[in-house]
Order: sequence, then C-alpha cells, then structure tokens
Amino acid sequence: MQYLILQNRNVSHNYFKLALDISEAFNVPKPGQFYNIRCGETKDPLLRRPFSMHRLISTKGSVHLEILYRVTGKGTEWLSTRKREEDLDIIGPFGNGFIIEESVTNIVMVARGIGIAPLYAVGEAFRRANRVTNIYILMGARIKERIFYDEECKRIGEVFLYTDDGSRGFPGNAANLLVDLLERKRLPEKFSLYACGPADMLRELADISEKFGFSGQVALEGHMGCGFGACLSCACPLKPGYVRRDKHWEKPALQWSEDGNLVYSLICKDGPIYDIQEVDWDEWLA
Ligand SMILES: Cc1cc2nc3c(=O)[nH]c(=O)nc-3n(C[C@H](O)[C@H](O)[C@H](O)COP(=O)(O)OP(=O)(O)OC[C@H]3O[C@@H](n4cnc5c(N)ncnc54)[C@H](O)[C@@H]3O)c2cc1C
Ligand code: FES
Repeated sequence: MQYLILQNRNVSHNYFKLALDISEAFNVPKPGQFYNIRCGETKDPLLRRPFSMHRLISTKGSVHLEILYRVTGKGTEWLSTRKREEDLDIIGPFGNGFIIEESVTNIVMVARGIGIAPLYAVGEAFRRANRVTNIYILMGARIKERIFYDEECKRIGEVFLYTDDGSRGFPGNAANLLVDLLERKRLPEKFSLYACGPADMLRELADISEKFGFSGQVALEGHMGCGFGACLSCACPLKPGYVRRDKHWEKPALQWSEDGNLVYSLICKDGPIYDIQEVDWDEWLA
C-alpha cells in the first residue's frame, strides 16, 4: 500500500524521522508493532525492511504514523533520501505489540540508541491513558555524540542518561545504571520494565529482573528475511517452562521439539515483543 510522506528529516547524526499519512489504513498500530517498508525502486534490496511504530498522531479526520530510524545500510540509506510528497510502499502493522497493563502504576523503560523508537510509543500510550504516575527512561549509547532524543523523552518521563565511556550521564551501560538506581532506591519498589536494544543488553536486564523480582517486556529486533513466517530466519529460542501465551500473545508460529525440551518462536509472527523471562538468552546469543 502506498502512503504519502509528510516529512522525512534528519534529527541527529544518522537518525531520521519519517512521517506518513495513513488516514486510509484499516488497522491502527499498537506500541511495539512494526511495518515492513519497501526500501528501493529496484530489486536491490529485494526484501522489505521492518520498522517499529514510533508515534501515532490522530487529528480531525487524519492519522499520521511516525517512524524513527537509523541509517545503517543500503535500505535505510535509500529511505533517508525520500522526499515530502513522495509515496512509500509499506505494509503492516505486524506483530503482537507491548501489553499496556492497566494495573501498572510505575514503568521503567530501558533503551540503547534507536531502541527508544518503539518505547516512546509505550510512554505516550501510558500518558494518554493517564494510567501511570511515574515513567522512568534510561537511555544512552557508547559515547555522548550518539545520544539523541533525550529532550523529547523528557516530555513523557524522568530521563537518566548513560554512556559506556562516561562522557555523559552515568558512566557504564544500561544494566549498570539500572542496578545503580535500584541499589540507591531511586526507582519505586514495584514497576514493570519495557526494553529495546541489542540482545546482550536485554540478556543483562533479564538477569537483573530475576534477581530483583520485577516483570518486563522486551522488543527483539532480530534479522528478518520475509517478514511473514516463511523463511524461518527470525527464529528465536524460548525457555519451554516460561512460554507466555495469553489473549495478547497467542504465538501462532511456535515450534516444539517432540520431547518438549526445545521451543522456537518466529519474531515476525509471534513477536517482536516477549516476556523478558521467556527468551532463552544463552541459546539466542550462542
Ligand atoms: C521488528 C523490528 C523492528 C525494527 N524497528 C526499527 C526502528 O524502529 N528503527 C530502526 O532504525 N530500525 C529498526 N529495526 C532494524 C531495521 O529493520 C534495520 O536497521 C534495517 O532493516 C537495516 O536495513 P538496511 O538495508 O539499511 O541495512 P542492511 O544492509 O540490511 O544491514 C546493514 C547492517 O545493519 C545490520 N542489521 C540489519 N538489520 C538488523 C537488525 N534487525 N538488527 C540488528 N542489526 C541489523 C546488518 O547486520 C548490517 O551490519 C527493526 C527491526 C525489527 C526486526
Ligand atoms: S522473517 Fe521470515 S519467518 Fe520471520
């Protein structure tokens, strides 16, 4: 489906924000769902590229979808050259989306780099519904020059910055910062975690969630081929005893081994959002 580009601008370094008019679309996306975008006019690149819903802005009679993206290769390079008034071929929304639990009153969001893209939508959803009193946002990067979008995030919550090299904010990574805040009792006793970033960061957060006893949901950005369950390139191992299935997350593509000791999930169909404890991080990162 072709949608009109309203804006496509550089927001910082190699980060861009794309806005599309999706007023004609049938389905409204939920935070954590994604779109597959055709990133080229020829057969190279052949495969569509997945991007999360970043913001949804509805005004009288029109619906705008915003996508926040990082230029990293051929497809995103092409995307960054698209101009206002041009059309873009996108399909979606796909995936399960984050569960926005009504009972949750405190949320902690943890992002690294472009990981803030889907999390911002979570924060806005809570703010819109006025269900949450406290939103804490831990965000950062390797070096201070890579930090972006922190001013925008201050509109929805309290922001804590980190850099691996200590050039801005807390000196250390996201996991170090989270532990520091928990130990200094700078976060509420009860909260739900929402995280998006590299898999090794998510694994560290999973260990911390087990140790400190909080629940969490993570957005996995594994490599995708087809984007609709045919190529199996996005298979992700889950812990058999922890697989979470409920009305939000049916997981139609789960594959169990005959003895029930192994279970694989397809991120494009069952995910990309998972309970932080159900992913078999050791197997996933092996
Ligand atoms: C569900 C989902 C949601 C996503 N949402 C966003 C988003 O909101 N904003 C955004 O900027 N990106 C997002 N991504 C990642 C985005 O899809 C990739 O950056 C994009 O496909 C790269 O395309 P390319 O042709 O520019 O790069 P390629 O030429 O395909 O690859 C360039 C480099 O990036 C690496 N790369 C490619 N895809 C990924 C990936 N999925 N994870 C890690 N490294 C990758 C490659 O290994 C290579 O080193 C998402 C991915 C998934 C699976
Ligand atoms: S991307 Fe092909 S099966 Fe998920």
